[in-house]
Amino acid sequence: MPKKENSALKAFESRVEFPQDLKFKDKAIRYSKTYKERIDINIGLNDTLDYIQSIPDASISLIVSSPPYNIGKPYEERIEFEQYLSWQSHVLQECKRILKPDGNICWEVGNHVKEGEVYPLDVFFYPIFKELGFNLRNRLIWHFGHGLHAQKRFSGRYEIILWFSKSSDYIFNLDPVRVPQKYPGKRAYKGRNKGKPSGNPLGKNPSDLWEIIEADWENQLWNIPNVKSNHPEKTIHPCQFPIELVERLILALSNPGDLIFDPFMGVGSTLLAGLIHGRKVIGVDKEKEFTDIAVVRVRKYLEGSLKKRRLGKPVHKPRGTEKVVQKPLEWRE
Ligand SMILES: C[S@@+](CC[C@H](N)C(=O)[O-])C[C@H]1O[C@@H](n2cnc3c(N)ncnc32)[C@H](O)[C@@H]1O
Repeated sequence: MPKKENSALKAFESRVEFPQDLKFKDKAIRYSKTYKERIDINIGLNDTLDYIQSIPDASISLIVSSPPYNIGKPYEERIEFEQYLSWQSHVLQECKRILKPDGNICWEVGNHVKEGEVYPLDVFFYPIFKELGFNLRNRLIWHFGHGLHAQKRFSGRYEIILWFSKSSDYIFNLDPVRVPQKYPGKRAYKGRNKGKPSGNPLGKNPSDLWEIIEADWENQLWNIPNVKSNHPEKTIHPCQFPIELVERLILALSNPGDLIFDPFMGVGSTLLAGLIHGRKVIGVDKEKEFTDIAVVRVRKYLEGSLKKRRLGKPVHKPRGTEKVVQKPLEWRE
C-alpha cells in the first residue's frame, strides 16, 4: 500500500465489528447485510442489488450516488460496456421502485474510457433513465481544478450530475441553497416595483454550473473542491465525494427527516451530508474496507470529531507570493 494511503488509513480505527446494531449519541446505527426500518443510520455491507431487495417500495425521498465507471478501479472488475449498462439499468429500476412518488435521484458520473476512447457516461445513462420513466430536471456540471494531466487529449476537469425526478410532482427547495447576488444593491428601473431592490433578499439561484471561482457562495457559480490528498475529508477511497457536494443536493432535493440512500456509498460521504442536515440515511457498499470507514466517520461525526470542509468555504486561491505559484528560475528568460 502506498505511504500516503497507509497514513490516511491510520487516521481511522482498524477493523470494525460486523454485523452490529448500536446506539450512539441517541442514534440507532445498523451495520449489516440488510436494511431495517425505523433505524436512523443503516450501513450495508453487501452487493447493492441484494441489499436494495430489503428496502420497501416507495420509502426513499432522495438517492444520491456515484456508481463505478467500469474503468478498472481497484474496487471493480472491468466488464463489457453493454453488460455494465445493463447491470446499471437493473440497479436504477430497483432505485425507482424504492423512491417515493415525489422522490429524486442524482447520478454523478464521469467518463468510461476504453482503448483511449472516451465514453461520457451521462450520455449513456440518459436513455436508461428515460426508458424507466424518470424526468430530467438538471444536468449539473461539477467543475474541479485539479486532476490527472492527460497526454493525448485535454485534461478532464468536470463531471456530471444527472438529477431526475420520479414524477412531475417533486421536491425542490431553492431557498436553502440560494447564493448571494453579485449586485444585491440593484433596483428595478421601471414598472410597478420601480426603485425597489430587484433581487431576492435570500439570494439567487446558484445555477447548474458548479465551477471554480474565487469564493463559491459569494459568486454566481458553485465550486466544490475535489477530494484530494490535502483535503480534510480524504480517506483511502480513490474517488470519494466531497461531503459539501452532496449537502447542496440534500438541502435542495429533500426535506428534514426524509430518508436518503446511496447504493454505492464508498466511505459514506452521502450519509454524512444527510446526517448533518437532519435526514435519516442508508448506504451500501460491497467493500468492507470502505464500509468500516463509513461506520467510523459516522461515529466521528456524531461525537463531533469528524474533519470536514465547511459548506461554502471559499476555495483557496494563491496570493502570488508562495514559491509554488512562481515560475521556476530555469524557465525565466
Ligand atoms: C465511485 S465509488 C463511490 C464513492 C462514494 N461516493 C464516496 O464518497 O466514498 C463507487 C463505489 O461502488 C462500490 N461498488 C462497486 N460495485 C458494487 C456492488 N455491486 N455493490 C455495492 N457496491 C459496489 C465500490 O466499492 C465503490 O466504493
